[in-house]
Amino acid sequence: MAQDPKSLAAGQSQRQITAGVPLSIDENTPELFRPLSIRSVTLRNRICVSPTCMYSVASSGPLTGVMTPLYITTIGHNVFKGAALAMIEATGVQPNGRITPHCPGLWNDAQQTGLKSIVDFIHSQGGLCGVQLSHAGRKSSTQPPLVAQQLGKSSARASKEEGGWPDDVLGPSGGVEQSWDGKGLDPAGGYHIPRGMTELEIQDVVSNYAKAAQRAVKAGVDILEIHGAHGYLINQFLNPVTNRRTDRYGGSFENRVRLLLEAIIAVRAVIPKSMPLFVRLNCTDWTEQTEAGKKFGSWTEESTHKLIRMLPNLGVDLVDISSGGNYHSAKLNVFDGDHSHTAMALRIKKTLQEEGNKILIGTVGLITEANQARDLVQSDAKRGPGVDIISVGRQFLKEPDWVLKVASELGVEVAWPLQLERLRPGPIARI
Ligand SMILES: Cc1cc2nc3c(=O)[nH]c(=O)nc-3n(C[C@H](O)[C@H](O)[C@H](O)COP(=O)(O)O)c2cc1C
Repeated sequence: MAQDPKSLAAGQSQRQITAGVPLSIDENTPELFRPLSIRSVTLRNRICVSPTCMYSVASSGPLTGVMTPLYITTIGHNVFKGAALAMIEATGVQPNGRITPHCPGLWNDAQQTGLKSIVDFIHSQGGLCGVQLSHAGRKSSTQPPLVAQQLGKSSARASKEEGGWPDDVLGPSGGVEQSWDGKGLDPAGGYHIPRGMTELEIQDVVSNYAKAAQRAVKAGVDILEIHGAHGYLINQFLNPVTNRRTDRYGGSFENRVRLLLEAIIAVRAVIPKSMPLFVRLNCTDWTEQTEAGKKFGSWTEESTHKLIRMLPNLGVDLVDISSGGNYHSAKLNVFDGDHSHTAMALRIKKTLQEEGNKILIGTVGLITEANQARDLVQSDAKRGPGVDIISVGRQFLKEPDWVLKVASELGVEVAWPLQLERLRPGPIARI
């Protein structure tokens, strides 16, 4: 096909068939390589780039929280080589919602412009771009892991001088015992002591979710995700171990899910009807076996089922199932087959489908092999339905060609990036 060199130079592909799309689809094509339409968008296959923090944006000055072209070399590269959707990492809806001072935000015009340049590149490669809206709550104002590692810790507090906000670390509940690692300001600890949020501060967060969503829409994003997992603010509210409130945001299940539901309602109200909305959730926080879990109760697989049942009516299209990160003494068991995120996601999908609930389910975690990826998405008469999408984090960071490799291993002939066509095994210039 003739190419316009000018548009190629601008990174535009003239092809109808973009990388990662099967050249033909028949009854043997695995679900993994079939398109999926959600509202007005279509994923070209089921393989998505999981949000992964890069801790690489400015922490001060006019470019604070502004995404840089680095994202084009990371998630942009994955999309160039066939990933259907790149979900941009946890992006703070307000300054104290960032995990570290070097994390992106979406509360001002410069940040919106930075996001747009990433979105434009991803679109030029035929992919979709999502952004994960987040508030880190009591896990905010930390240092990027590299800095913490140099100090010999898994996490380290960011001081004011380092761009942090020690006096403005928020959580559902405050006090030393609510610092993430329970160590308070002990030099061995790595987190600040959170302040329990007022209702007004909770309402501010909800409204900032909506404002950031509006900015994401203006930047051209295709899909929005609300981060409700990994121990960040919304997840902290969900679990009675980390939410000790006695007002209408704490106590009962209905009260603990209120912040998430309010954020969903606020976001859905300001984004187009045609735009899909995802939520990432911890299927379990692994707190049942802890002393605190035995005392206060936990966030479990059953809680997640109960919550997901409430979401389709609020306009949520997909729940991405993950786990962990909400409590220092949690007893994670993700390497045990039955308890991996993927196994939990399949159980949830099956139960929901049996109930007639059509919400889509995604999953993530230790997905590295072609057969594993195929089997997760494939429906199986004995096991039940597959998940609708998979997200892949570390494997994509290590191996940007992963979609092409998986297709080749599964015997699915997919389009390659036009510019790399001559590298493809087999006859050259096939398209
Ligand atoms: C460096 C790094 C940064 C991450 N940042 C985020 C994030 O911003 N949001 C999120 O939901 N998960 C984040 N995660 C979790 C990943 O999205 C993913 O769920 C996890 O790595 C498990 O998937 P994997 O085995 O494919 O890597 C991060 C993981 C890593 C390794």
